[in-house]
Amino acid sequence: MTENLTPTPTVADPRLILALDQPTIADAMALVDRLGDSVSFYKIGLQLLPIGGMELCAKLKAAGKQVFLDYKLHDIPATVEKATVSICGAGADLLTVHAEPAVMRAAAQGRANSSLKILGVTVMTCYDDAMLAEMGYAMKARDLVFRRVEQSLEAGIDGVVASAQEAAEIREKFGDGFLIVTPGIRPAGSDAGDQKRIATPANALADGATHLVVGRPIHAAENPAAAARAIAAEMAQVSR
Ligand code: C5P
Repeated sequence: MTENLTPTPTVADPRLILALDQPTIADAMALVDRLGDSVSFYKIGLQLLPIGGMELCAKLKAAGKQVFLDYKLHDIPATVEKATVSICGAGADLLTVHAEPAVMRAAAQGRANSSLKILGVTVMTCYDDAMLAEMGYAMKARDLVFRRVEQSLEAGIDGVVASAQEAAEIREKFGDGFLIVTPGIRPAGSDAGDQKRIATPANALADGATHLVVGRPIHAAENPAAAARAIAAEMAQVSR
């Protein structure tokens, strides 16, 4: 494991975010080293946050990378606001919160004038209509997604996490001017894994995504840097 990451010139596509879904910080650092300048933006999620993810964030920032902290905050507004203030101190670039109005307003308040951008997770993609009904919601998942996009914009946060399929309709209904960060990306011919609503990198961008979150197609590849460069080359054909 490399103790500190060497600063690298950013030649990567800044719209490509690598999901650091790794079991240990050492594995994550080794992957970042292998990727070199092919990736400049990393997502640290719940797997790594409890075991040193914030220290990893600081190292990535010191190495000139951008960092997306996928906390999916959901708590009383005072706590969300204070958590957001603490997270701002780490210099991260993106943070997720659940897209409930009070939660989003608290996060917007907490980040104040910092450069941290906040994304709302509208409806978790593992929920379908039946699960929402079981939870007591009288809305279909699709309608709840659109309602929460509208509420995200009203709350003054910077965008949402959405599938590529949702992205096209979100752009149609709510226009441009906010971020849509899209997981479930699979280059043509690659394994879908457990993702159901997948899109190719070019299609997701054409549908209105501003950033793509990619995990296994890069980190499970024999040559992750080459896989990242191939995805970036496909992305470069679409400018939005
Ligand atoms: O390996 P894969 O490309 O499927 O990884 C996608 C990343 O995006 C994972 O970190 C996963 O947790 C995240 N994600 C997702 N679907 C969502 C929200 C986040 O796949 N709706």
